[in-house]
Amino acid sequence: MSDAKLYTYTEIAEHNKADKLWLIIEDKVYDCTKFADEHPGGDEVLIDLAGQDATSAFEDIGHSSDAVKYLEKLYIGDVDTASEKPQPSAEELAAQEAAKTSSSEGNGRLVLALFVAAFAVLGYFLHKS
Ligand code: HEM
Repeated sequence: MSDAKLYTYTEIAEHNKADKLWLIIEDKVYDCTKFADEHPGGDEVLIDLAGQDATSAFEDIGHSSDAVKYLEKLYIGDVDTASEKPQPSAEELAAQEAAKTSSSEGNGRLVLALFVAAFAVLGYFLHKS
């Protein structure tokens, strides 16, 4: 184990604005407060994710090895992964709920409906003959 400084999720979540801007990438904490202005992808995307886990956003972009190397300069410590995550706001919960209904649950219902329809048609033809 390294002797890196540990930050709790709550502490990290407090750094959620342009002048207090921390990001989590793969359980490491990066202080992007000064970097945001220089970010080739703009400061907006970083501010949007400030105080949160930006791992998938960072990876989805397909950042260059230069970008990955740059992370070393912004590194301030590790996430205390045993710490409690702050409660998501009502707004975030509603968004999560909406996402669930429209994707997985919605698909599940559609598959079920198709099955029912298929058996109804099958039953109809079997009875007919
Ligand atoms: C501390 C973390 C980050 C660092 C050090 C960083 C660094 C860089 C660098 C050096 C580039 C130039 C292209 C490259 O070398 O790959 C870049 C581009 C870009 N970054 Fe980041 N980035 C970070 C986080 C993020 C995050 C969280 C997002 C969220 C969406 C993001 C979105 C983008 C986009 C969209 C571009 C492309 C800009 C363009 O070519 O028009 N970056 N970043």
